[in-house]
Amino acid sequence: SVFSGGKRIRPVLCMAAAEAVAGDVPGIETAACSLELIHTYSLIHDDLPALDNDDLRRGRPTCHRVFGDAMAILAGDALLTLAFEVLSDKLDAAPEVKVRLIAELSRASGTVGGMIGGQVNDLEGEGKAPDAALLESIHRAKTGALLRGSVRMGAIFAGASDDDYQALSRYGEHIGLAFQIVDDLLDVEQSSEELGKTAGKDAAQHKITFPAVYGLERSHAMAEEERAKAFRELERFGDRATRLRELADLVVHRKA
Ligand code: IPE
Ligand code: IPE
Ligand code: MG
Ligand code: MG
Ligand code: MG
Repeated sequence: SVFSGGKRIRPVLCMAAAEAVAGDVPGIETAACSLELIHTYSLIHDDLPALDNDDLRRGRPTCHRVFGDAMAILAGDALLTLAFEVLSDKLDAAPEVKVRLIAELSRASGTVGGMIGGQVNDLEGEGKAPDAALLESIHRAKTGALLRGSVRMGAIFAGASDDDYQALSRYGEHIGLAFQIVDDLLDVEQSSEELGKTAGKDAAQHKITFPAVYGLERSHAMAEEERAKAFRELERFGDRATRLRELADLVVHRKA
């Protein structure tokens, strides 16, 4: 599942954030890997019959369709655990840096306000009346937290000042929200073939999404607004933030 063709947006964000802070930062790839392991685990579990019950992921049958539910649950558990082994045992960094990275990744992928908390709210929201405040809190948690965490981990590893860290955190929040707005839009506007995952799934499962609450046109405009806000946070970094700007563009303009 880790090598099945994901876009690698989270690790690349982590590396680009480190670059914005300090240029070339040797060893950052190892920290970045931990994010892709968590992300891949989250997708395997998200697709399980008890959650979104999806058959298609990255253009292939989902993990549980190929290996069965038990192995898919365990594969997710294993990747989640491996992420923290990578940070604690494989990463070349000072102990206090490792602890900060582990804390950041735990919070981003954890319960209230983190990815799992968001997944809980997403499932509990199925069939509920579309509500703007609930929508934003679901999206900020289930997807935004790990994207912001990716940027923050790059900043921490690169030794960012407090001001740089805060600016990059705000950048991460804006593109994090934009990312899930676009994920919701793609679910409506693209085909399963183009997406490599089942299209039209959110409406079928009565999920609370941006198109359901705001409609397509307004949702597109909101994603663009988040992109513009993200760009503003990068001004202080000048040319070193070129990759982060490109990633903000990619998040909003991607077709899958
Ligand atoms: C999809 O994430 C799941 C969400 C958090 C919306 P990506 O679109 O980054 O998935 P891959 O890794 O490229 O397949
Ligand atoms: C998933 O959101 C967020 C995760 C934490 C995995 P979705 O359920 O919208 O993701 P897709 O559309 O299945 O990739
Ligand atoms: Mg889901
Ligand atoms: Mg899903
Ligand atoms: Mg989706």
